[in-house]
Amino acid sequence: MLLLLTVILSCALCSRPFVSAYETRLINKLLLNYDKRIRPVKNSSHAVEVTIEPQIYSLIDVDELHEILKILLWLPQGWTDENLSWDPSEWDNITLVNVPASELWMPDGYIFNTIEIREALSLSQIYARVDFNGMVEVDLSKVISVRCPLDLISFPFDTQNCSLQFGSWGYQAHQLTHIVRNTFVLVNNQNSEWDIVSFSAKKTKTWYKSMHNQSRQFEEIFYTLSIKRKPLYYIVVLVVPSFLIANICLVGLFTPNSANGEREEKVTLGLTTLLTMAVVLNIVAGEMPKSSTGLPLLGTGDTFS
Ligand SMILES: *[C@@H]1O[C@H](CO)[C@@H](O)[C@H](O)[C@H]1NC(C)=O
Ligand SMILES: *[C@@H]1O[C@H](CO)[C@@H](O)[C@H](O)[C@H]1NC(C)=O
Ligand SMILES: *[C@@H]1O[C@H](CO)[C@@H](O)[C@H](O)[C@H]1NC(C)=O
Ligand SMILES: *[C@@H]1O[C@H](CO)[C@@H](O)[C@H](O)[C@H]1NC(C)=O
Ligand SMILES: *[C@@H]1O[C@H](CO)[C@@H](O)[C@H](O)[C@H]1NC(C)=O
Repeated sequence: MLLLLTVILSCALCSRPFVSAYETRLINKLLLNYDKRIRPVKNSSHAVEVTIEPQIYSLIDVDELHEILKILLWLPQGWTDENLSWDPSEWDNITLVNVPASELWMPDGYIFNTIEIREALSLSQIYARVDFNGMVEVDLSKVISVRCPLDLISFPFDTQNCSLQFGSWGYQAHQLTHIVRNTFVLVNNQNSEWDIVSFSAKKTKTWYKSMHNQSRQFEEIFYTLSIKRKPLYYIVVLVVPSFLIANICLVGLFTPNSANGEREEKVTLGLTTLLTMAVVLNIVAGEMPKSSTGLPLLGTGDTFS
């Protein structure tokens, strides 16, 4: 019995490394002389072409008071690493291996206008998929906070545009170039307060002057995220009460004189209206950034009505 168990156990142990022996040797061979500091092109006058296709996985939060947008961004990237290729017929028909991304050269794409980036996984936890032609794919996932000036004139029926500026942090345009694929929004991850209207990209190249007075060209990709508020909550809580209050105010103004004490009643009505208005305004003010570029028309209307 014990003997049988030993035999089974040792076979389980011995067969596993045998199955993946090719893969082990292949990965060892690929990474043997690999230097992840080197841009993976054989001819250094060629640019590495990195394909990117960011997706808004989820709109986590819109902090109106501080004008900060927090999103969970998926950033799949793909490029060809000319140093990572093999002939599958020599390697047990293996066409794809997974290698920790921290072992490979990685493009240094960065979102310039974030105030905070949190990587969902560290690079050593992320496995890049390497194909026998040297095509590498890696999916990054980041929680990013961007500052996004809000234009609240048409609150609560407003649409906000938020810009994300993406590009390589260190490589110039002739060393690393991005191929921008159509971006899309995963529809099943909508926010309850905001709808994502669009997420579009525009690529530009800009010359900058370096510290040594040399001109350097960098590639920049501007993503515009357009979000639209779902106004129902504010209609119920703000618009309808404001409308009612304004009407009561008007009715109060034009009520015919009563026999006695009509002035007092008008004053009471006026004061009550003012108090109610203050409460409504307080709600608006608590939600809004203290900007003066565009006051919400609703709040302005409340103040002057
Ligand atoms: C590198 O690429 C450039 C442009 O494609 C070409 O003119 C040059 O001959 C190449 N150099 C080598 C060493 O292959
Ligand atoms: C990768 O580059 C190194 C150094 O140039 C070289 O020794 C190695 O053979 C290359 N590997 C492949 C798979 O091309
Ligand atoms: C690899 O694939 C070829 C063609 O499909 C097949 O003839 C060969 O037997 C395969 N080799 C192994 C080790 O599976
Ligand atoms: C937001 O962007 C869309 C399309 O990109 C544009 O039509 C709209 O005018 C922009 N809105 C604002 C407030 O800039
Ligand atoms: C760069 O240009 C500025 C003004 O044009 C000059 O003062 C500075 O000395 C230059 N620096 C170098 C390193 O040439």
